[in-house]
Amino acid sequence: MHSATFAPETNGMYTIKVRTKDVATNEMIIEATAGQTLLEVLLKNNIDLPHECGGMCYCSTCHIWIKSGSEFILEKSKRETDFLNKAMGRTNESRLACQCLLVKGGKLISIEIPSKNENS
Ligand code: FES
Repeated sequence: MHSATFAPETNGMYTIKVRTKDVATNEMIIEATAGQTLLEVLLKNNIDLPHECGGMCYCSTCHIWIKSGSEFILEKSKRETDFLNKAMGRTNESRLACQCLLVKGGKLISIEIPSKNENS
């Protein structure tokens, strides 16, 4: 999973703004704490993001776009980059949600979830 060593700020809260491409008007605001991945946060909030490999960085089904706040997320590993290269619709905002560990708290992160067709 995460091999980097770091000390997340555990008392910080994040506000995560989530938009989906499937429903243009669908926008949710959720709260999260440091030390969780965006995949974990989304699933806890009943947002059913596909995660075929169970969050082990062996697929690209949890592909999302980070629209703002990427500086509050653990940097991409080479392995994540390799799997992201297989994701449809990837851009330089693309990340795998299971690898997006929240490391600094208290800020807004804005994400967009591709449609199911774009991640399958
Ligand atoms: S769930 Fe497979 S790479 Fe994230």
